[in-house]
Parts: sequence; C-alpha cells; structure tokens
Amino acid sequence: MSNEKPAKTEIVPADPNAVARAATLLGQGELVAFPTETVYGLGADAMNDRAVAQVFAVKRRPRFNPLIIHVGDRAGAQRLGLWNERAERLARAFWPGALTLILSRRPGCALSLLASAGLDSVALRVPAHPVAQALLQAFGGPIAAPSANRSGRVSPTTAAHVAQELRNAVALILDGGRCPVGLESTIVDGRPERAVLLRPGGIPRAAIEAVIGPLGQRPPEDGGRPRAPGGLESHYAPGLPLRLHATAARADEALLAFGPVVPGGAGATLNLSPTGDLAEAGANLFAFLRALDRPPFKAIAVMTIPDDGLGEAINDRLARAAAPRLAVD
Ligand code: TXA
Ligand code: MG
Repeated sequence: MSNEKPAKTEIVPADPNAVARAATLLGQGELVAFPTETVYGLGADAMNDRAVAQVFAVKRRPRFNPLIIHVGDRAGAQRLGLWNERAERLARAFWPGALTLILSRRPGCALSLLASAGLDSVALRVPAHPVAQALLQAFGGPIAAPSANRSGRVSPTTAAHVAQELRNAVALILDGGRCPVGLESTIVDGRPERAVLLRPGGIPRAAIEAVIGPLGQRPPEDGGRPRAPGGLESHYAPGLPLRLHATAARADEALLAFGPVVPGGAGATLNLSPTGDLAEAGANLFAFLRALDRPPFKAIAVMTIPDDGLGEAINDRLARAAAPRLAVD
C-alpha cells in the first residue's frame, strides 16, 4: 500500500464489476467505502496492519477505539472469536443483520491487533446488505470497517455523505443507495461471563432480550477508554449545537420534528416521521441532521422521541450529538 492518499475518490454504483474492483483494492491494502444496512463502512483488509492503520489515520480516530470486523457468515466469525452457546443463539436470531457481538479473540487468529486496539476481545458482525455481502464474498476474508465518517461526527447513510466526510482519502466508494436502517448496529458483549448491551442500535433491546433474557447494565467507563463509541461523550455530532426536547423552533433554529406537528405550532423544518414510526425516524436521523446543519440556522431543535424500541438508539445518538464537544479527534 502506498502511503500517499489517493488523488481522487471514485464514487461508483455498486454493480458486480465495481464490487470486484473494490475487493481487488482491499487486497492491495487500499480503503474502500461500502454500504451496509445500518450505515456506510470504511473498509480495510482486517489482516493488514498497514491498511488498518490507514483507517485510524483517515478517520482521525483514537487508536484505543477498536473497529468492527465484518465477516460473511457465522463460520467466518467462529474463526476469529471464541464461540459459545449465547453467541450461537444471537447469531441464529440476528445474523445477517444489525447486531455486533463482542467475543474473546481466538488465540493465534490472524486479525490485525491494531483493529481490536490490542484488546483480547473482538467485535464481529455479519452484515445483511447485499453489497456488503457481495464484497465479503469477493474479498474472501474479514473486513475491518468503522462507520465511514471522521471520528466524532455523524455517520453516513448515503454515498454522498461518505464523499463529504472522506473525499480523496479513500480509493473507491461503492454507492448502494440509502442505508435502510440508518442507525449503527446494536453491540452486545456476548462473552460467556456477561451479556451486556454496549451500544443501542438497529436491533432493539427487547428483540435481543426475547432471545437471551435480560441484558446487564453497561459497565462504567474505564478511565476514558471507551468500551463502545457511546463511551465518548460527544459523538455523532453535527457542526451546529442541538437542543433536545424542543416543542417549537426558536429564532435561528431549525426544527427536527417527530410525529404529527400540532397545528398552529411552529412548522417542522424536517420531520423524522410524521406518523411517529420509529423505524422511519431511525432511517432519516443522520441524513436529516446533516441536512439541517447549515446556515441560516444557528442550532437544531429536536422534538422528544419516545424511548421504546429503536427510540433507545435514536435518543442515544441525539444525547451524544447534543453533548459538550470534547476533543475526540
Ligand atoms: O453498524 C455498524 O456497526 C457500522 C457498520 C459500518 O457496520 N459500524 C460502526 O463502526 O458503527 P464504528 O467503528 O463506528 O463503531 C464500532 C464500535 C467502536 O467504536 C468500538 O467502541 C466498539 O464498536 N468496539 C469495537 N471493538 C470492540 C471491542 N473489542 N470491545 C468493545 N467495543 C468494541
Ligand atoms: Mg462510528
């Protein structure tokens, strides 16, 4: 892999030829952005330390924050993580799909140590998106892929968002349209001694608890080292400040609404879901935050979103987007 950044990023429709080219680039140690059902990923060969190092550099991501490893199927995950009964049940229920499992790293596995930030655990996911699946098939090995945004910023749900974030820092962007879920995967610590929700995401807590019983509380942060991205207080942040639980926009604010807007109230600048559908709101969230993050607005006022189902993940992202901006980059 050359250390120079590619001069120009190509954005191409994710047809079979483009997928084959993306797989070749990955094999050469280059970075490729690709769609998943949750958000776009910034992919690198997970066995190649230099390619993985490039992911951290391009995202300006702290090296203590490990990456999710994408594999094509359960067998691929079993080669990298120590499998157990609970992992089996979760994988059967939710893979392929928006679930990431933290497992103990299989001793001697060839995964880049940098990808898992030197931890003895590994984050594994089998994505459902057909383009992600095709890329994994064509590449034939695990792909390390965080969300394709600069560290601390809003995750991309279209190829154009990726280009806004990473233009000229990635060789190729596979354009697979809008990500249908729009929220990152739910991260569950699946090691035998614990079953803990580390990050709410595209699969609601209740769906997971229906399969494996109650999930434990997330442990407190350990000296600032994040156990999941939620561990960084400010995250998923647009440039403008956010004001939560708004009922109407003030002067200079954009209103991000949810549900039927009361007649006579200030009109919504954008509405996450006029019918109050949380799946629709999740799919729209990041795209709408980006769309409102511009002049003449000076802040984004967000209406209250119910906390059930996917609302837990939506509210998690909103709270972090509204948090004081610490230097995470
Ligand atoms: O939906 C998703 O999960 C997307 C798509 C591209 O798959 N990926 C994604 O990656 O959101 P990222 O890097 O933005 O967030 C993954 C988070 C990391 O920030 C990290 O904190 C957590 O997963 N993670 C990774 N490995 C871990 C580990 N061994 N233990 C605990 N947390 C881990
Ligand atoms: Mg991310």
